[in-house]
Amino acid sequence: MDWHQRPVVKQIRDAVEKRHIEIILVAPFVMLTAVTILADLPPQPTTEGHPAPVSLVAKAPASETEQLPPPQPAPAPAGAEARSEIKASEPSATAAPATPSGPPDLVALRALYTQDPAFWPPATIDPEVDYVELGVPKLPRRQDVSDPLAQLGKTLFEDPLLSKSGHFSCQSCHHRQLGWGDGLPRSFGHGRQEGRRNAPSLFTAAAQDSLFWDGRATTLEEQALGPLLAPDEMANDDLESVVARVAASANYPSQMKEIFGSPEVNISRIASAIAAFQRTLDRPTRFDRFLRGAKDILSDEAIWGLHLFRTKARCANCHMGPNLTDGKFHNLGLSYYNRKLEDLGRYSVTGDPADVGKFKTPSLRHLARTGPYMHNGVFPSLRGLVNLYAIGGGRSARELDKDDPLFPHASTKSPQLKRLSLTNAEREAIVAFLKEI
Ligand code: HEC
Ligand code: HEC
Repeated sequence: MDWHQRPVVKQIRDAVEKRHIEIILVAPFVMLTAVTILADLPPQPTTEGHPAPVSLVAKAPASETEQLPPPQPAPAPAGAEARSEIKASEPSATAAPATPSGPPDLVALRALYTQDPAFWPPATIDPEVDYVELGVPKLPRRQDVSDPLAQLGKTLFEDPLLSKSGHFSCQSCHHRQLGWGDGLPRSFGHGRQEGRRNAPSLFTAAAQDSLFWDGRATTLEEQALGPLLAPDEMANDDLESVVARVAASANYPSQMKEIFGSPEVNISRIASAIAAFQRTLDRPTRFDRFLRGAKDILSDEAIWGLHLFRTKARCANCHMGPNLTDGKFHNLGLSYYNRKLEDLGRYSVTGDPADVGKFKTPSLRHLARTGPYMHNGVFPSLRGLVNLYAIGGGRSARELDKDDPLFPHASTKSPQLKRLSLTNAEREAIVAFLKEI
């Protein structure tokens, strides 16, 4: 939707045109709302061939939007669509009188949640789901960080010598100050080629059962070889050339000798050092500190968000345990099947049609620092993302693909996704919690 048509902006224009005296009264509210909306506008296209996802709205066949059950917005949207369409209808929701699902007794809720998680209210979990309660994960110790192998790994991680062009290090796309991601929807690598996926944060890389959005690697050692060879990342022709460059450098052979007892450089030593470094990255979050007894660190709103996350909003069906992930793969309706941004996810690893459009449940630790979100980075804001969950996930594959054998799978979303009836205040509370985890 064109932002000029957004109701609030229109309201300002009408008011100015008619010179209504009310503008004096409504202006502060209207401007505040307008700022909120503008802040949530989808990103502009960056490169030709990679339009901002919102352009898909215009291309959607009319039939898809006609099926809408009012007053909810489109059942279909993939990422940005959910964001723009719901946002547009939100200002009126703000003005609406309190609904039966208004804020609960926040004092009572705080009393419940400052107890040990064993005494928290039961989470709303589907019967087929094996739930693990939220908690504090095992965090790296100081001696892990100062370990010589991890220190060597840090140097290698930051060294562009590892890329064919000499321009890219692991850090180019996984930077500490960008939450160990790169702050972009999708990464740029060798030759400034845009990849098709978002660079995940590495805070919890060490704790994952499988790595990459599609889970195609299972250990950090194995994983590191992926970017070294990926043509749109570090673009090396083979691993031998990487080893040869590292071996020819002034410092690495002597560091290898100190750690391994011989100066030999080989790919498994390189990979194990980089992996050791990545095992040192996680840090305590404010939610960890809350769980460890800093009872006042979370606001009432964030505690309400925690409660909603575990109950009405159903997030804990997939984002569970200390790392806020079940380690499984789910279809949220974001595969863009048969569209420009198509990514079939787990299917490309297993070849099993049931895996079309499934992606790994990411850890949500340090979330406030790790945007944009999702495998294709289509969500710049957490608020837009919560709106997507509220309508039960993204758009199903297009009707016209019906005869395609993969179509039924692409359009079958995870059974744990359901339409949620969340008020504006509840959505804000969830976001407040997400910023603390
Ligand atoms: C050009 C940008 C780029 C470079 C350079 C790069 N990465 Fe990545 N990294 C990505 C992207 C994009 C993904 C997600 C790819 C996917 O899921 O298919 C990723 C995924 C990962 C993951 C998986 C995390 C998870 O939770 O699944 C790890 C670990 C990782 N990279 C470490 C490294 C290391 C180590 C290096 C250097 C050897 C490196 N990356 C270099 C962009 C990059
Ligand atoms: C059916 C399982 C499931 C449920 C329920 C679920 N999620 Fe997710 N979540 C996922 C998967 C899978 C992804 C990755 C999807 C993708 O990239 O295509 C994800 C991605 C995310 C991300 C993006 C993280 C990142 O680093 O990019 C956030 C934030 C998130 N979920 C929050 C929530 C919240 C809040 C709720 C509840 C309102 C929720 N999730 C409910 C499975 C789930």
